[in-house]
Amino acid sequence: MNKKEIYKQLLEFAKETAKNSYSPYSKFKVGAAVLCEDNKVFCGTNVENASYGLTMCAERAAVFTAISNGCKKIKAVAIYNKNGNFSPCGACRQVIAEFAKDADIIYNTKNNKIKIIKITKLLPDAFNLD
Ligand code: THU
Repeated sequence: MNKKEIYKQLLEFAKETAKNSYSPYSKFKVGAAVLCEDNKVFCGTNVENASYGLTMCAERAAVFTAISNGCKKIKAVAIYNKNGNFSPCGACRQVIAEFAKDADIIYNTKNNKIKIIKITKLLPDAFNLD
């Protein structure tokens, strides 16, 4: 499989995971799939809470699951929402950047095409302690 085919597959995992979204307040279902350095994939969805501020985004849920399962470096993150043109929030960009200096971010456009953009483009000059 070439890179684009792999990323399409990754987006399919994100789409499937979005079905598990717990979003009774916003009704905004998001799924994310993380591709690790060793080619393992870990998924996550957004989990909302009656205390709104406790809501967890899909991307961070996926990244935290990947890291919890031994992933050290992230190659790509696919994000799915049915409306398309989804771009990760600032907090999720910073969390992705921690484990992925050069990761590709993949998402579906409004007309279901695939869009690939570097995390360094979405978050130039990410915070670090160096
Ligand atoms: N959400 C994500 O899952 N990822 C983001 O990058 C931004 C927003 C979720 C949080 C909330 O459940 C819903 O989308 C609406 O903000």
